[in-house]
Amino acid sequence: MSRHLQLAPMQAMTDIVFMNTYHRIFGGFTEMMAPYINATSVSPIKIQNLQKYYSELNKGVTLIPQLLSNDAVGFLHFANLLYDLGFDKVNWNLGCPFPFVTKKQRGSGLLPFPDKINEILEEVIPKLKPKLSIKVRLGLNNEDEILPLIDIFNSYPVHELIIHPRTALQKYEGEADQIAFAKIFPKLNMPVIYNGDIIRKEQVFEMEKLYPETKGYMIGRGAFINPFITNQINGREFSEEEKISKYKEMYFTLHNHYLSRTKNEAGFLSRMKEMWWYFAQSFEKGDSYLFALRTINQIDVFEDTVKRIFDNGKLIY
Ligand SMILES: Cc1cc2nc3c(=O)[nH]c(=O)nc-3n(C[C@H](O)[C@H](O)[C@H](O)COP(=O)(O)O)c2cc1C
Repeated sequence: MSRHLQLAPMQAMTDIVFMNTYHRIFGGFTEMMAPYINATSVSPIKIQNLQKYYSELNKGVTLIPQLLSNDAVGFLHFANLLYDLGFDKVNWNLGCPFPFVTKKQRGSGLLPFPDKINEILEEVIPKLKPKLSIKVRLGLNNEDEILPLIDIFNSYPVHELIIHPRTALQKYEGEADQIAFAKIFPKLNMPVIYNGDIIRKEQVFEMEKLYPETKGYMIGRGAFINPFITNQINGREFSEEEKISKYKEMYFTLHNHYLSRTKNEAGFLSRMKEMWWYFAQSFEKGDSYLFALRTINQIDVFEDTVKRIFDNGKLIY
């Protein structure tokens, strides 16, 4: 049985290169959501940049662009242009937890303002060409802020709602609140996708038993920590040799690509060290690998150390 799986958008992580590479080596994501684009300005130049950017996407990847906006005019402008570029679904980001976004009443900064959300939907929906997907947290400051939004979302033709059951205050820490998810889920009348902390296939199987009506699952950090996850969920297991070989291929495709684009050694290493925050969690003794990598300031030494990790490291998943 093949499940509906969406790759979660992760700014600076799940770019087109990652999406293409994951799709080629592992596959298994039904759809991949791109990190957000600010959709508050109506500059047409940005759309041309987008067209160029998306043109590098592998044809087999079904991509959902995501918009961060608190302004109906900007949202409509970008969403309808994206539709004209061939994207028949766009996502509205009501989840971003970072203060530089929320203090402008964008992302989860809009969640305490149901009237404003309603106003935007009222203006957007009648003129919107693509289908509307919404990604939401439980709230900005507390988990009840989502409650008044349920009736609002139910009163519009929302194509799907993706719920990440954390508040913005929690950022990505602690555990996703499945109890809160269970409370909200039955009250929603559109297809719902669960998102949060999925790393092992068993978590999906467990949730399927509890909430069989869920449309699917969105996975972000899990795609880096356990890149075999989509295959495992869909019933395909690799041997240990296959796993290491595929993982290494994915890693070095990304590594070589970013290296070929870099103008600055320090910038490249800092980017790869950020990514290793997740990759290290794939391995037993991952903390010590991360610690070692973080002290390295030369690309060739970094590369040799990474190769040794793939040669000797023991995968957890
Ligand atoms: C580094 C990073 C960047 C993220 N960027 C975005 C983003 O652009 N848009 C968005 O909706 N969520 C973003 N998220 C949140 C993820 O999409 C996802 O909701 C969150 O990581 C929880 O899912 P997971 O536990 O499967 O990773 C980001 C998360 C991380 C860790």
